[in-house]
Amino acid sequence: MSGNILAIDQGTTSSRAILFDGTFRPGAIAQAEFPQHFPRSGWVEHDPEDLWTSTLSVCREALEKSGLPLSDVAAIGITNQRETTLVWDRKTGKPVYNAIVWQDRRTADTCARLKAEGHEAMVTAKTGLLLDPYFSGTKLSWILNNVEGAQAKAQAGDLVFGTVDSWIIWRLTGGKVHVTDATNAARTLLYNIAENRWDEDLCNLLGVPKSMLPEVRDSSDDFGITEADIFGRPLPILGVAGDQQAATVGQACFKPGMVKSTYGTGCFALINTGDAPVASRNRLLSTIAYRLDGKTTYALEGSIFVAGSAVQWLRDGLGIISQASQSQALAETSSEEGRLYLVPAFVGLGAPHWDPDARGAIFGLTRASGPADFARAALESVGYQTHDLVDAMRADWQGDKASETVLRVDGGMTASNWTMQFLADILGSPVDRPQVLETTALGAAWLAARKAGVWPDMDEFAREWRLDRRFEPKLDATARGRLIEGWHDAVRRTKSA
Ligand code: G3P
Repeated sequence: MSGNILAIDQGTTSSRAILFDGTFRPGAIAQAEFPQHFPRSGWVEHDPEDLWTSTLSVCREALEKSGLPLSDVAAIGITNQRETTLVWDRKTGKPVYNAIVWQDRRTADTCARLKAEGHEAMVTAKTGLLLDPYFSGTKLSWILNNVEGAQAKAQAGDLVFGTVDSWIIWRLTGGKVHVTDATNAARTLLYNIAENRWDEDLCNLLGVPKSMLPEVRDSSDDFGITEADIFGRPLPILGVAGDQQAATVGQACFKPGMVKSTYGTGCFALINTGDAPVASRNRLLSTIAYRLDGKTTYALEGSIFVAGSAVQWLRDGLGIISQASQSQALAETSSEEGRLYLVPAFVGLGAPHWDPDARGAIFGLTRASGPADFARAALESVGYQTHDLVDAMRADWQGDKASETVLRVDGGMTASNWTMQFLADILGSPVDRPQVLETTALGAAWLAARKAGVWPDMDEFAREWRLDRRFEPKLDATARGRLIEGWHDAVRRTKSA
């Protein structure tokens, strides 16, 4: 059988489809952006139909561009923006509300109340997560409590819940299959990650009927077969993982202690912690990295909500660049004396601060400050935030276990050598950029190909990981310490309480 895999990457701002061949190389690619809806301050929604139609059209386009006959496509792998919450009617397939996006902060008050009532320790012990609006559970509750008739219909078993993977699979299979994988389930606030099951106590706490929840499968598993008329021939869906977990797989971070960091809209760093969940002492998340053949591998995760979107802000908010790729050249013209600190808390602060009420701030402005200094501060903010995550990770993971000092990076921003050099400098340790930057889609492809039996196992796949460039730290310890101190001072002054 051929080793061609169609990988779907349904992300926050665009849907993408990539065909990988048996040598793990990306071939035909198609991408489509879709509208973002901001109905109120702090609210972020997607139209579920846009998620579906953009996914469908990029799949068709990539298949067409590839020129491959469908009989040469072994399977589909899906990876997706995580936590984004959808509820639809079991019979009609019609969503009852827009998809509430992971960035949405509307349930901040609910989370604060649940915390004040003392539920956070229990929630964290079971899910590895925190009571923050980021996760699906309180978003799902919000839909049930705010959409007319939703609670009653859910109680009657007429509504189903899904993250974006479930929604896409439901549509691809013509409403026949309602499933998710363990990595996506792990982000809902309803899933017990140590016991690998939906949790009754959590469902009760959030008022979610268990009948709404999808069946949870391994990340490399049978997720159904596409309806014949969708692509002209049925294709099996054999791999699913949330995008950050898929990137962990695509970066071949299979050994405990290996760390990857992906720079998309936000930045998400994951360290593989092996076969047991690690409780964080530094407000990181404990999560499922992947589940293969019923065996779960765990990770600690640091989630930053603003990385690439800081560059978008330079382009769309400030209008000081017209394309994201211009940010590096502009930043390079900033002088040392002009250094600013930008804390891009546009939608609050994620790990390790978890402050949904904080908002962005900039420090160090003088009469001479200009666009170049803003650009540099935006790019540097990504390095500083990664530093804080990696620091917390290594503190959590120390014990008797040695952690890798190398950080494997991927995602759009890693194309900027300047940004990657700053990252290595501020981390004080090497940063490795792989040749294949489509790591997220590659991870989904490997999960599907593994189940299809058309790609090699983990060890051989890991050996095929190829370095494009290593960025070695060049900054001396004193200068580095001074910069980090300045950053921490800026963060302290930005926090809400
Ligand atoms: O947890 C949110 C994350 O999955 C979103 O990723 O790449 O769509 O920004 P991305």
